[in-house]
Amino acid sequence: MTQDELKKAVGWAALDYVEDGTIVGVGTGSTVNHFIDALATRKHDIKGAVSSSEASTAKLKALGIEVFDLNSVDEIAVYVDGADEINERLQMIKGGGAALTREKIVAAVARKFVCIVDQSKVVPVLGKFPLPVEVVPMARSHVGRQLVKLGGNPAWREGVVTDNGNWIIDVYGMAIINPPELERQINAIVGVVTNGLFADRAADLALVGTTGGVTTLRP
Ligand code: A5P
Repeated sequence: MTQDELKKAVGWAALDYVEDGTIVGVGTGSTVNHFIDALATRKHDIKGAVSSSEASTAKLKALGIEVFDLNSVDEIAVYVDGADEINERLQMIKGGGAALTREKIVAAVARKFVCIVDQSKVVPVLGKFPLPVEVVPMARSHVGRQLVKLGGNPAWREGVVTDNGNWIIDVYGMAIINPPELERQINAIVGVVTNGLFADRAADLALVGTTGGVTTLRP
């Protein structure tokens, strides 16, 4: 099976966690795009979606799924999103597609977070994938210097502007032994909007696409 076939398998498997009559939180990325295709087959059963990016919003609307502003919504039953890395505690690195801030906000509201990944994303220790950090543009150099003090090797993702009008720094060379602590340390740097560690709010379950089928991981 190709990596995309594994992504498609978990994207469709996540449909089992969608409850009729609810608003669904929708992440961003190539795996989630398969989930959105699957969700379109249930569009008359759900109220609609809250989206984590302009890209997902466009795809949801194109398929006839109503997209709600998060501020008009009290509750999200389930949030479905991919990840760049996930460990056995279901802590993740996200933001490879630069959508980390809105993803973290929607995940914070959701009752349940279902992470959908192909098997290549499951790792023993987070950090081989460079950790994305969204920064207010004028703070880029300051944040970069602070990230070096934390042991990282920051690189500006030049040319990329987030949906929020900010920039991304990717931090290389960190073996992240204590994800919640590093998440808090980086978020405490002035000028950081948020970072791509999802440790304080980890996933509640992960659907992993393997050549042997879809397996479920729980923390
Ligand atoms: C978007 O910013 C990311 O957090 C994605 O969820 C992550 O990069 C996974 O993307 P793919 O599903 O395309 O691998």
